[in-house]
Amino acid sequence: MQVFEAVRTVLAIRSYKPESIPPATVRKILEAGRLTASSMNLQPWHFIAVESREDLRALGEMAATGPYIAEAGFAVAVATEPTKYSESDAGRAIQSMILTAWEEGIVSNWVGFYGLDDAAEYLGIPDEMDLLAIIPFGYSESATSGGHKKRKPFSDVVHKGRFGKRFEE
Ligand SMILES: Cc1cc2nc3c(=O)[nH]c(=O)nc-3n(C[C@H](O)[C@H](O)[C@H](O)COP(=O)(O)O)c2cc1C
Repeated sequence: MQVFEAVRTVLAIRSYKPESIPPATVRKILEAGRLTASSMNLQPWHFIAVESREDLRALGEMAATGPYIAEAGFAVAVATEPTKYSESDAGRAIQSMILTAWEEGIVSNWVGFYGLDDAAEYLGIPDEMDLLAIIPFGYSESATSGGHKKRKPFSDVVHKGRFGKRFEE
């Protein structure tokens, strides 16, 4: 899949077949996170791969905005060290993992930022770090055509040269 095609079609998917994902694919998704660029190359992140059904169910109960973690094939909890740029750095790493998974036919979504304190404790994340998000990954429950995005019109958010000047399409 070409990069733009992945960006164009990827969707937030919130239900999964309770099926495990091949270890090599899990590893590839995690590697995509690890390889991501970060400010000053600080790499202020830790990726906790959660694969046991018991743990996935427990996280689904704790994450207020992501009960569907319970059904995932696996999930990645993304913990950040407290640097000025850790949210933007980890956000990029998360997008790398989501797009890599999408190319492999695996859907996902970002769960966070709220209500993750219990999950952080459950996962043993040190107090000085934040649990930014949990990303459940899985095979889609239904056929996912992708690309049906609700986005603001191009002309509302893209400007040419100066704010407010129309970028002709
Ligand atoms: C930073 C961020 C945080 C998000 N947090 C949640 C969340 O906690 N729970 C959830 O169900 N979806 C969450 N989402 C998914 C968004 O709601 C979803 O991507 C958005 O509505 C657009 O839908 P689409 O990705 O299918 O086009 C989050 C997405 C982002 C980028």
